Amino acid sequence: MLSEKMQDALNQQINAEFYASYLYLSMAAYFEAENLLGFANWMRMQSEEENMHAMKIYDFVNERDGRVILSAIDAPPTEWDSALAAFEASLAHERKVTGMINDLVDLALDERDHATNSFLQWFVDEQVEEEASVDAVIQDLKRIGESPQGLFLLDRELGQRGGAEEV
Ligand code: FEO
Repeated sequence: MLSEKMQDALNQQINAEFYASYLYLSMAAYFEAENLLGFANWMRMQSEEENMHAMKIYDFVNERDGRVILSAIDAPPTEWDSALAAFEASLAHERKVTGMINDLVDLALDERDHATNSFLQWFVDEQVEEEASVDAVIQDLKRIGESPQGLFLLDRELGQRGGAEEV
């Protein structure tokens, strides 16, 4: 059984993951409008992943006989100055989420809630991957600079991120 404090914190995390899903979908829409369809695909896949993160916590709260409470999801920004600016905003967001996951782990340890701690380790590992994959695109974008050919090639590469045909 989850403590009320743990349950509230997990419900907040569900909201944060849905916000991330919304944020990346907004970035996908921005890239669609910019006619960078590979970038749009990458962000759309990212949005789907965040939805999966939210549902993973949703299922866990239910499994532990907790009560899922969904709350309002903030509207995400809709415009960025460039592809680089969007990916930098994405990295800043992932770092924030990493901090939230770490706070959840601290709370689980404080409460000696070993089941929640064990569950959260998947997210600890996932955040390392999430930050690294966003940072890899940032490094590519910095290398490309103002080159339209470079942007074209990176767009094609990001368009290959899997799962697009399933959505
Ligand atoms: Fe669910 Fe990208 O953190």
